[in-house]
Amino acid sequence: MSRFSLPQDAAFQALNTSLGFDRRLWPFDVAQSRAHVRMLAAQGIISEADRDEILGGLDQAASELEAGTFPFLPDDEDIHMAVERRVTELTGPAGGKIHTGRSRNDQVITDLAMFTRDAATRLSGDLEQLRAVVLQVAEAHLDWPIPGYTHLQRAQPVYLSHHLLAYFWMLTRDIERFAAVLRATSELPLGAGALAGVNFDTDRRMVAAELGFAGVTPNSVDSVSNRDFVLDLLHALSVTATHLSRLGQEIVLWTSTEFGFMTLSDAWSSGSSIMPQKKNPDAAELLRGKAPRVWAHQAALHGVIHALPLTYNKDLQEDKEHLFDAVDTVALCIAAAGGMLETATFHRDAMSAAASDPMIAAVDLADFMVKRGMPFREAHGVVARLVRESVDGGTSLADVTTAELGAEAGAIFEQSSWLESKVSEGGTALARVREQLEQARALLPA
Ligand code: ARG
Repeated sequence: MSRFSLPQDAAFQALNTSLGFDRRLWPFDVAQSRAHVRMLAAQGIISEADRDEILGGLDQAASELEAGTFPFLPDDEDIHMAVERRVTELTGPAGGKIHTGRSRNDQVITDLAMFTRDAATRLSGDLEQLRAVVLQVAEAHLDWPIPGYTHLQRAQPVYLSHHLLAYFWMLTRDIERFAAVLRATSELPLGAGALAGVNFDTDRRMVAAELGFAGVTPNSVDSVSNRDFVLDLLHALSVTATHLSRLGQEIVLWTSTEFGFMTLSDAWSSGSSIMPQKKNPDAAELLRGKAPRVWAHQAALHGVIHALPLTYNKDLQEDKEHLFDAVDTVALCIAAAGGMLETATFHRDAMSAAASDPMIAAVDLADFMVKRGMPFREAHGVVARLVRESVDGGTSLADVTTAELGAEAGAIFEQSSWLESKVSEGGTALARVREQLEQARALLPA
């Protein structure tokens, strides 16, 4: 019997169904159903015979899902209904008891919490690998000077190791963000029922223990309304994607003929369909291009949840595609970033030549005069004038400086001194970079 006298309109079904995207939740759905029916039997809510029949049906459904032979039907609205329908088909009346003391509202958020934990764990493992690659490439290019830029204008030279380690610390903060996501999913929502709790004496803590949750959520209304950990994961993903977009952009610049700092492995390059000479950094461009879609997913889910009255509303079904696409996109981007960096070649001469422009020592020259007693602002003015004379006269800044201030000032234009003078903690002097490498190595798993 059904409450309805008409079949669902086909367009409504097409709008309403989530099976196309939520079927990937099946391993979590099956695992939670196993834990749920074991608990029902342990509490005497269903018989042990029913429990065993249901567990058998779940095993069968799981192997069909695994093998891709699961017989989905057009009426299966989502993965939860499809699994229950199939278990009931396989086991008869026992299967009809699987949903005792449970609603799809607490079921779906439990699946999603499990998916989120799994994804956050996987991605933070991927980030740890990428971090190790960054560290290894930094170590291999310890004392290679490159220009550091502000406004994409040559600003002050740094070592390539130092520049690359900047990404190490970004990734380290990313990993911490994923750890926070895990903390946000540590309580089991299952047992909240539709929204009010259930009419059975369930043991939520037993289910939590079997599924690896540290505890249970304290409020059934909040349990089925909450999507915070999805927003948290989308936030963590957005920041990671944004970091990788900056790396992508630097790779695009550095591999250009104009910079010539870096060559990508052929395994990470593509050709042009018309220009035979081309070797394009498509993967790096996609690190740049994919990031906005990740944070757009985050913005979209904020929009879905914004002003949504408690508790469950079908709007919340929209959480999944945003989450899944963001997770898959960032996983690919992390793999690409690691693959490109690990196999790239850096060009010492080109980087060093770009970092030898005497103009890049302007701050050092000003500081030289400060150390002789001139106030910094005044020294800044003197150097600015020397720079203008150098530009107007087409003479190098080193020569203009030597002519006006003497040989001792001219000696500032030794490239290694600009780098090795940056001795402040966290600066680019080699001793400081070595300290940083130590700190970084200490964070890697043994
Ligand atoms: N497919 C739904 C979702 O993803 C499952 C929950 C449906 N609950 C309901 N009361 N219609 O949100």
